[in-house]
Amino acid sequence: MTYQEFYDRSMSDPESFWKEQAEAIAWFEKPSQILFKDEKGLYRWYKNGKLNTCYLALDYHVENGRADQVALFYDSPVTNTKKQYTYSELLEEVRLFAGVLKARGVEKGDTVIIYMPMIPETVIAMLACARLGAIHSVVFGGFAPHELAIRVDDAKPKLLLAASGGLEIDKVIDYVKIVNAALEESAHQPDACIVYQRAFFKAPLKEGRDFDWEGQLAQAEPADYVEVAATDPLYILYTSGTTGRPKGVIRDNGGHAVALKFSMQYIYGVKPGEVYWAASDVGWVVGHSYIIYGPLIHGCSTILYEGKPVRTPDAGAFWRMIEEYKVRVLFTAPTAIRAIKKEDSGGKLKQKYDTSSLKYLFLAGERCDVSTLNWSQELLGVPVIDHWWQTESGWPMLANMVGLELLPIRPGSAGKPVCGYDLQIVGPNGEPLPPRQEGTVLVATPLPPGNLPDLWNDTNRFISSYLSAYPGYYFTGDGGYKDEDGYVFITGRIDDIINVAGHRLSTSAMEEVVASHPAVAECAVIGINDRMKGQIPVGFVVLKGGVNKSESELEKELIQMVREKVGPVAAFKRVAITQRLPKTRSGKILRRIMRFIADQEPYNPPSTIEDGSVLGELEDLMKAKAIGEMKED
Ligand code: COA
Ligand code: AMP
Repeated sequence: MTYQEFYDRSMSDPESFWKEQAEAIAWFEKPSQILFKDEKGLYRWYKNGKLNTCYLALDYHVENGRADQVALFYDSPVTNTKKQYTYSELLEEVRLFAGVLKARGVEKGDTVIIYMPMIPETVIAMLACARLGAIHSVVFGGFAPHELAIRVDDAKPKLLLAASGGLEIDKVIDYVKIVNAALEESAHQPDACIVYQRAFFKAPLKEGRDFDWEGQLAQAEPADYVEVAATDPLYILYTSGTTGRPKGVIRDNGGHAVALKFSMQYIYGVKPGEVYWAASDVGWVVGHSYIIYGPLIHGCSTILYEGKPVRTPDAGAFWRMIEEYKVRVLFTAPTAIRAIKKEDSGGKLKQKYDTSSLKYLFLAGERCDVSTLNWSQELLGVPVIDHWWQTESGWPMLANMVGLELLPIRPGSAGKPVCGYDLQIVGPNGEPLPPRQEGTVLVATPLPPGNLPDLWNDTNRFISSYLSAYPGYYFTGDGGYKDEDGYVFITGRIDDIINVAGHRLSTSAMEEVVASHPAVAECAVIGINDRMKGQIPVGFVVLKGGVNKSESELEKELIQMVREKVGPVAAFKRVAITQRLPKTRSGKILRRIMRFIADQEPYNPPSTIEDGSVLGELEDLMKAKAIGEMKED
């Protein structure tokens, strides 16, 4: 079947389309209704369907001939460790750790926060939660204690799982210290913390609160899977919103399993038994969907890589991995490719390895510039597929569905709408725009299975953030346009979210921190284009009257504050003092215009601007400080 035929079927009769796709997974009880609205009036998929996601990811394969196939390869250049688990070995580990959780009182519907690095125990912990019907919430290791505390207070976990430490190339990240600081700040306290002690770094445990992972395992009884409803939450993943408070994206069990299985086959074009590698982090949605659940539900071998694209030990690391594990499909962020290209632009290191197993390279997480796409395509000699999605969707919304047919690649475009996504580009008043006119990207509701059904503890915010601006549509927060053939080009966020090295961050969260400095009267943090990281944040600060502080001194202090409050991953490294910020007459800071100035893009000052002369001042300031010198292709 062609892409167009399959897509049209998904549009003309979504319920029968997603009923058919649901046949691909093993239900304990099949759904009695495919699409319905819940008591809050929100769309849900697969009413009365019963299943267990851990069963689908592990037990099912052990029962159906994959017991001895490798489920998980662990490759850690930072600790010089390699390990592998077959499906039956991974199942045994998960059964036992589920027993640990159960013995600590974790039951279906309880929440568990996981603050752990890229180690097999993290995967085991997530699957063990899924096994019990408990809801995990993984927090990315690069976040500071304050960000962890916000998530603890919102998710109210019964348990917190941590590792003693992580390794960022050669720098030890003391996870337990971060947990201690977070729990000092949070009002909610988990009943207990279970800590995995890594060989290179043992953390002191708090008597009565912290328990040693291995010690708990030694006393545990394996636990069986629990039947859950398709609509029960599998996990919460917090993501940056347009305020400092992150949004708790909920993922349900049923729609998620169906969507991921579907995507593995039709988007990524992999077969059960093949090796699929998402070089991301389990703390992000890509890690959830395509390091863990997607490949395992599909019966692939997946890879957990505790390393970087460069410096572990060099820019040939990814190519070594492809050769060693015979990777069929690699998924990473454009920034990783840019990092490799910077170190080895001639691709010399690539020549050391046999990458002939590779069929496709998929890129997502940020806009993929044409030169990065072309460079990687030439180097690897395989189609490089840019595709677009979000934490909220959980799986791609735009792609080249290579499992159906490989459409011609148009560099700069993230492809065409994936089956189930009715994507529209609209103008300021919601009017559909003709080809090549840039507007707001919307997706008609109901969104297909796997997308967020709601936000944790905050249905009002779910509705106001995503559904109310354009009734009948989900607001993606991205801008873009279509061409005459229906290829979509995503041009970037139209809100205050930025993407730094493929990491989604909120400039508002950084602004809150900068504004709290005693010398700062007001400030704006904007994301500007960066050759390596895609975007980086820059703070523009107006000092309080009478403050006598040098720019470099203030910059140092603010950088430290953002590292401590948001985390090093924000890569907040530039501050400029300005006399004033551009504002509308009603006092709204014109951040978007500031971004246009920094990125040297044309703009029209809005008629509501308080005083247009400030824009010239800003242009001079940015030139003088070489802020935003890059012009993207
Ligand atoms: N735990 C703790 N700290 C972390 C971390 C983690 N899991 N991940 C990143 N950090 C820290 C880094 O140590 C660094 O700290 P520093 O300022 O003290 O040096 C900071 O956060 C920024 O890290 P990073 O974004 O990794 O930048 P980098 O300059 O060290 O490396 C790349 C650049 C391109 C190599 C790296 O960003 C990368 O691999 N990106 C790919 C991202 C990706 O796969 N995203 C997936 C989403 S699809
Ligand atoms: P996250 O929720 O962290 O996955 O980030 C989602 C955001 O990343 C999207 O809203 C986009 O702004 C951006 N993004 C992801 N993939 C792409 C892509 N292929 N092209 C352009 N932007 C992308």
